[in-house]
Amino acid sequence: MLISGGCGFVGRHVTKHVLKNHLTDSIWLVDDLFTGRDPATWLPTCFTPTTLSSTCTAFEHGGRIVYFVKNDVRKFFAEYLNSPFIRNLPRFGDVIHLASIVGGRALIDGDPLLVATDLSIDAEMFHWARVVKPDRILYPSSSAAYPIDLQGTDGSVPLKESYIQFNQSLGLPDMTYGWSKLTGEYLAHIAAKSYGLHVTCIRPFSGYGEDQEPVYPVPAIAERAARKENPIIVWGTGLQARDFVHIDDCVDFLFRALETIGDGSGVNIGSGVLTNFLEVARTFADIGGYSPEIRPLVDKPVGVQNRYADMTVLRTRFKWSPSTSLRDGFSKVYDAACQRIAGDENWCRISRL
Ligand SMILES: NC(=O)c1ccc[n+]([C@@H]2O[C@H](COP(=O)([O-])OP(=O)(O)OC[C@H]3O[C@@H](n4cnc5c(N)ncnc54)[C@H](O)[C@@H]3O)[C@@H](O)[C@H]2O)c1
Repeated sequence: MLISGGCGFVGRHVTKHVLKNHLTDSIWLVDDLFTGRDPATWLPTCFTPTTLSSTCTAFEHGGRIVYFVKNDVRKFFAEYLNSPFIRNLPRFGDVIHLASIVGGRALIDGDPLLVATDLSIDAEMFHWARVVKPDRILYPSSSAAYPIDLQGTDGSVPLKESYIQFNQSLGLPDMTYGWSKLTGEYLAHIAAKSYGLHVTCIRPFSGYGEDQEPVYPVPAIAERAARKENPIIVWGTGLQARDFVHIDDCVDFLFRALETIGDGSGVNIGSGVLTNFLEVARTFADIGGYSPEIRPLVDKPVGVQNRYADMTVLRTRFKWSPSTSLRDGFSKVYDAACQRIAGDENWCRISRL
């Protein structure tokens, strides 16, 4: 299995899921560590590293090997295709393509051309896949691919998978991030239709988790609450709302989708519940056991007003809904924030009482 961007937030969870549940697969992580973390810091400590080359390290435990290639995945794909030894290179069954420039809202709005790098990363992946024909490809699109005019203050609606269809007119996605995801989905659609590849697109809403970088709002607000800040700052009016889904649920459903969808079409991963940022801050303060003032910071970038998933396809076709409640998920994020701040999770548990 190849996991591009495997050292990022989603990639780390996917890797651990594969190690636990897919017992035979060897794993190749290709990541330039632009934002990702070195596997030595997050793989289970029983995995012993051996340096194979200047860019490749093998982590081994009990016959199980995780290879880490520290490289731009576009270079990796090009070197693979140009290698005189291409026939001897590993053949990847599943490709989970997570390499991407994401960042939080500040990057999406503040450096849209950097985010547009994703167009070239995705184009190189599909070009490579068209030649080497892996068994299955997971392409992570995003809820940002949906038309933004369905997510405004007036008349926002739950976003249905059918709102993106390439045989009819499309709405305007969210900045270059949304454009690149919409384009990636189009490439996925073509890869399946014209090249016979098995491709699955997922459209996660706001994924969050304990080890997410604090450039994202959930860990950032958790840290403010863990520090017992008063007031707690939230960006914008705080009335803008998102559909939060815990990373464990995202990864659980990602593999279900990969099993079931192969025609390049996209499926939501969300909860169907809108939670605004004032509520996010209140929930973390409540978990922390105090009642701060919550102060909006209106000059910060906030994105669309309301973005949430329509759950019909998830519930009817997949009989799926997330199993982690917002309260439970946020409590875990809060504990992790405390651990980062105090170096001791118990400090926070005590301070909650
Ligand atoms: N986290 C979410 O809630 C969410 C929601 C919707 C979609 N997604 C999508 O899931 C994918 C993974 O997201 P994430 O949250 O893990 O992001 P992330 O930033 O944590 O991970 C991306 C990884 O890609 C690596 N990377 C970037 N450019 C690279 C390159 N040229 N070559 C090799 N590696 C490169 C980074 O170092 C990082 O490790 C992205 O495509 C993202 O758009 C995530």
